[in-house]
Amino acid sequence: MNPLQIGNLKVNLPIIQGGMGVAISLSGLASAVANAGGIGVISAVAIGMTEPDYMKNYREANKRALRKEIRKARSLTDGVLGVNLMVAVTDYEELFTVALEEKIDVIILGAGLPLKLPQYVIEKGFENIHTKFIPKVSSAKAAKVIFSYWAKNFNFVPDAVIVEGPMAGGHLGFKPDDLQGELTPLADIVEETVNEISYFEKEFGKEIPVIAGGGIYTGRDMYEIMQKGAKGVKMGSRFVTTHECDASLKFKETYVNCKKEDITIIKSPVGLPGRAIKNSFVEKINSGETEPFKCYWKCLKSCDSKNVPYCIAQALHNAATGNMDKGFAFAGSKAYLATKIQSVSQVIMELKVDYYKMKYLEYLRNFLGQHFVPEQINIPIVIPHINIKLA
Ligand SMILES: Cc1cc2nc3c(=O)[nH]c(=O)nc-3n(C[C@H](O)[C@H](O)[C@H](O)COP(=O)(O)O)c2cc1C
Repeated sequence: MNPLQIGNLKVNLPIIQGGMGVAISLSGLASAVANAGGIGVISAVAIGMTEPDYMKNYREANKRALRKEIRKARSLTDGVLGVNLMVAVTDYEELFTVALEEKIDVIILGAGLPLKLPQYVIEKGFENIHTKFIPKVSSAKAAKVIFSYWAKNFNFVPDAVIVEGPMAGGHLGFKPDDLQGELTPLADIVEETVNEISYFEKEFGKEIPVIAGGGIYTGRDMYEIMQKGAKGVKMGSRFVTTHECDASLKFKETYVNCKKEDITIIKSPVGLPGRAIKNSFVEKINSGETEPFKCYWKCLKSCDSKNVPYCIAQALHNAATGNMDKGFAFAGSKAYLATKIQSVSQVIMELKVDYYKMKYLEYLRNFLGQHFVPEQINIPIVIPHINIKLA
């Protein structure tokens, strides 16, 4: 497994843990993943809900909670830490400023196109910073829009790009119709994006890694997508069922107990579809019922709070704290593979074993020929640091 190189930042384990809100990935999970060699990511969306004064003082509570979680994570690891920001929230620039003030290593920008971001960085005087900027997009076309805009207007391009396919957990950058029937394979989106980005690599004389996410759950998934040109992977669901994940035990058990058919698409007040685990709350909302709420502030730019059937931030936070009757768990399409709660280091070990098993099988196939090495083969092999049995 080669390290993920993002400019001068070397990430030994090419895994970015997906930022998960509300309060699913905070300092606990982020520091554990960073200690394992990957990029541990704190989700900033509505993070102030963990503070007692959120309802009265939401903006300040969000900033304070983000700063606190970054500092706590930093006290627990020397590894690489990131913050996940949603461009669609109304206090995005304030949270962005906090992350930069705290000298975070990486900022991931999803749920919208961060076109004007470099201008903001210049205006705020944050030019000579080490922070890497990584937009998260759902298509090569969206990547091209951001790269072209930044290149033309600021003579600057993002340090890496994450492409997330339609199998991901959380909000999806696809139209509901695109999520019916046969889904666009992530491998196709990765290959198209690698092609698109190669132009900017030449123009700016630097390598720009493409990182793939959405439905990546096993070492085999990692291996296969990295064969298509991804230099790293982003994984959210796989890290939910860890002891270090900041969500309640009830939230994690929802994953362990769910079946493949429980994972469904929901309509979110964000204006995008989302993938989640079906429960009584999801069924209630899908049947047209509403969950009345008082909106203390307009946290999402696109939310029509008077007409949406429920508050998404409140529902996600309720679920994170274990109140599953008043919320639901976002989850990727492979979340049903969870069978137990493990430590982050156990997860990483399983991923490595699986990854190297695939790599070794391919090596054997290239050496001996395809038909001499069936999918099911039972020979013990030794790979660096890990002794595995192919089965
Ligand atoms: C429980 C959960 C919450 C999430 N919350 C956010 C979020 O607040 N902001 C965001 O940009 N992405 C969010 N995501 C998406 C993840 O960052 C990541 O891109 C996704 O989980 C990758 O797909 P996977 O779950 O199949 O690995 C969330 C995903 C999950 C599963």
